[in-house]
Amino acid sequence: MGLAIQHLLGLEGISEEDITTILDTAERFHEVLQRDIKQVPTLRGKTVVNLFYESSTRTRISFELAEKRLSASPINFSATTSSVNKGETLRDTIRNIEAMKIDMVVVRHHAAGVPHFLTQCTDAVIINAGDGFHEHPTQALLDMMSIRRHFGRLRGLRVAIVGDILHSRVARSNAWGMRTMGVKLTLCGPPTLLPQHSEALGAKITDNLEEAARETDVLMLLRLQMERQQSGLFPAVREYRSRYGIDLEKMRMLPEHAIIMHPGPVNRGIELASNVADGPRSIILDQVTNGVAVRMAVLYLLGGGDNA
Ligand code: CP
Repeated sequence: MGLAIQHLLGLEGISEEDITTILDTAERFHEVLQRDIKQVPTLRGKTVVNLFYESSTRTRISFELAEKRLSASPINFSATTSSVNKGETLRDTIRNIEAMKIDMVVVRHHAAGVPHFLTQCTDAVIINAGDGFHEHPTQALLDMMSIRRHFGRLRGLRVAIVGDILHSRVARSNAWGMRTMGVKLTLCGPPTLLPQHSEALGAKITDNLEEAARETDVLMLLRLQMERQQSGLFPAVREYRSRYGIDLEKMRMLPEHAIIMHPGPVNRGIELASNVADGPRSIILDQVTNGVAVRMAVLYLLGGGDNA
């Protein structure tokens, strides 16, 4: 059981079989994470470099934990304390790291396309941990795992993603992945934060929250990126909150069984009220837990591990 892909650069073009293999393997690792000893020897001897050029809490810690749970050796690179500050190029950085005999690279970068570029500079396996506005594939995989664990399936479910869709790599990866897995997706946000040409994503687009929320099984909120206000893409945080922020009052728009998700970090009191984020219908912390299992699955399947 392997994957057709050699690297994980995004979910665009990834087959239903590969996504299902990753989610099924993640379920096996989820079981490992419930044991007293949460470690397996499957990637012993493999070295993984975590190359983070951008801030991260969940993704960085989750990958490092996943690597340690698989008995791999993680090496953490931080752009702020590296020779990037002395003007070293990305290509030279990766070629120097490769010369130290590494097997896999997990990369987060503010520029879209960097993971793809790295595949041309090194023979190591490349895993995208978020590149610019492009994709964040392991986030979408953990989102789909969380939904599948809650509802027992993905096909036919209705998911609405609300917020700054235009600049969201999370929304883009989820759109590709969910389309492949037969989810009925709605993308909702202010007109200036919605993509103009979304047909390829196979999603319904609306700026009307009630339309997105009233028949959905899952409502996923995105972080409002404050820097977009300076670009004039939305008028005021207060107006955004009043139209798209979810509080207990707006929760009444949703069917009673619908759940709340958010990739984090949450702007409390803007896209989500605290009593919704921490409420009984929120599965936000389950998403974080499932993230470790999904990343173990991706590392294992691409890293050529055995004896899971
Ligand atoms: N969801 C997510 O990517 O969070 P971080 O930016 O903290 O990694």
